[in-house]
Amino acid sequence: MTSTDLSTGTGTSAGTSPFIPTPTTPYQGDIARYWDHEARPVNLRLGDVDGLYHHHYGIGDVDHAALGDTEDSAYEKKLIAELHRLESAQAEVLLDHLGAIGRDDTLVDAGCGRGGSMVMAHQRFGCKVEGVTLSAKQADFANRRARELGIEDHVRARVCNMLSTPFETGQAAASWNNESSMYVDLHDLFSEHSRVLAVGGRYVTITGCWNPRYGQPSKWVSQINAHFECNIHSRREYLRAMADNRLVPQAVIDLTPATLPYWELRATSPLVTGIEEAFINSYKDGSFQYLLIAADRI
Ligand SMILES: C[S@@+](CC[C@H](N)C(=O)[O-])C[C@H]1O[C@@H](n2cnc3c(N)ncnc32)[C@H](O)[C@@H]1O
Repeated sequence: MTSTDLSTGTGTSAGTSPFIPTPTTPYQGDIARYWDHEARPVNLRLGDVDGLYHHHYGIGDVDHAALGDTEDSAYEKKLIAELHRLESAQAEVLLDHLGAIGRDDTLVDAGCGRGGSMVMAHQRFGCKVEGVTLSAKQADFANRRARELGIEDHVRARVCNMLSTPFETGQAAASWNNESSMYVDLHDLFSEHSRVLAVGGRYVTITGCWNPRYGQPSKWVSQINAHFECNIHSRREYLRAMADNRLVPQAVIDLTPATLPYWELRATSPLVTGIEEAFINSYKDGSFQYLLIAADRI
């Protein structure tokens, strides 16, 4: 099997992930390149803890007893394990909102990264999970992990634009974006989720969004956009684009207070990437929110 590098449009024989040919924009080429080259310790060392590789942030209180003394030689290892526990806790909360999922159901992970959430979804529900990412490296990584775990017949990542997926209309019992909706136009995104979801199916997103109550995106939000080459949307845009695409919010949960401990702990760690201050300041000044929205496809 060959995979194709979306950033160049050329096929490679090194990868193993099927390529679904779709029109791509120059911006999507930039994003494919970004994630193909991404190898930050804050993602990889955390994934190494138990083999669940995430590219998202954490929620929940820090377990200071588990961390122990900062002077202890094992402190760094414990810190990494704690940050990873919080990022997996985030994925568990997303899965909690998918509703009743059976073994015969299919789930779609839009912007699946290295596949950590897909593996967790399969382990919880026993169902099939189809993921798409722009990055051939990520898809290969996720498929390799699925083979290592012996679940490759249930968990599969493909190199594909989430705005134009190969899934059949009404095929998915549930679908989600875990920190991947800030790379696309929300109307295009929700139109595709709405097509792929069965009527009565569930859509869930966890995302950072700018808060309309603040007025406009703050300087911190602009800094986060520049850092990740993304385009953070407002809370209002999410709700409007859902309403326009037959997605009716069932729960809107502000996870901002729950994610601050993760950021404050990460800011003290040797894994800092330089963006921690922007997240902490924007969450604290109210210009940015970490939100979960679960919506019914009607
Ligand atoms: C911050 S990572 C999140 C990864 C994963 N959801 C997680 O929680 O670990 C963003 C992901 O969105 C994907 N992405 C961005 N734009 C995309 C698009 N148009 N189609 C498919 N994937 C996209 C990237 O390739 C990357 O895998």
